[in-house]
Amino acid sequence: MIYKGKWALVTGASAGIGEAFARSLAARGANLILTARRGERLKRLAEELKEKYGVETLAIEADLSQPDAPDKIAADIAAAGGQVDLLINNAGYGLPGRYEQSSWAIHRDFIELMVTSYAHLVRIFLPGMQARRYGRIINVASLAGLTPSAAGHTMYGASKAFLISFSQALAAENADTGVNVCALCPGFTYSEFHDVNKMRDVVNRLPDYMFMKAAPVVEGALIAVEARRPIYVPGRWNKFVAWLMRALPRSWAAALVARQSHRFRSGDAPNV
Ligand SMILES: NC(=O)c1ccc[n+]([C@@H]2O[C@H](COP(=O)([O-])OP(=O)(O)OC[C@H]3O[C@@H](n4cnc5c(N)ncnc54)[C@H](OP(=O)(O)O)[C@@H]3O)[C@@H](O)[C@H]2O)c1
Repeated sequence: MIYKGKWALVTGASAGIGEAFARSLAARGANLILTARRGERLKRLAEELKEKYGVETLAIEADLSQPDAPDKIAADIAAAGGQVDLLINNAGYGLPGRYEQSSWAIHRDFIELMVTSYAHLVRIFLPGMQARRYGRIINVASLAGLTPSAAGHTMYGASKAFLISFSQALAAENADTGVNVCALCPGFTYSEFHDVNKMRDVVNRLPDYMFMKAAPVVEGALIAVEARRPIYVPGRWNKFVAWLMRALPRSWAAALVARQSHRFRSGDAPNV
């Protein structure tokens, strides 16, 4: 997994799993295009990784809940003479609460970021990867996309299930194009995610073994995409949960998730 001279676009690179991807890819020699809304953080990270690993970096401040953001990012990359060999579609957040508690504007922005921007960025950069016969696409989904949904966080699991299905189809379509596609399905991961969606107090009550650090999640994902695995679940606990959800009859799995979900889901919307 040496990416010397390749260009990697990482969305949501200002924190958590995206920042861990940026660090890991830079350590492997990849030039980086980092994007998120917090431009100052991106610039600091870009400078740090450029100095430490001698890679080229480009920081692009963008809000991917805006429909024109992917085209603007692509234009900035083209203007800088760059290209995208690895696409890490990662930006995201959680939206607690029942569906009707959030306005349509909030749901629309959520779908734009969590579903549309992922698909749009793939549509922009896939043809170039195919033409060069080299590409790596990681769509950061979630274990939530592999488990039956329970009440609360209505759109989150649905958006992640989309990414898993989308990645599977893309992987199949690109089996002989040199482009490997993987849906990364982490479980609870230490990052800013649960601070942003105001669920920190709730998930703090969960046992440590249910959590992973971002770095091993990313390391496993890079191995998985090289091995052309269309779906990758990191960590023993998460693998056990994914296996259990597959092994149980769907109605039993749904009942189990419904019984446990008060431990990690909110039926109310704390952030809207
Ligand atoms: N942490 C977990 O337990 C967990 C579990 C499963 C899956 N995931 C998935 O992992 C991915 C990364 O989450 P994380 O845990 O690393 O959370 P995080 O630490 O909160 O990082 C989220 C990143 O997404 C960016 N982002 C959020 N809204 C954005 C927008 N509108 N436009 C552009 N960038 C935006 C944030 O940057 P700015 O705020 O600077 O824009 C930040 O860089 C998400 O897709 C999440 O669903 C996380």
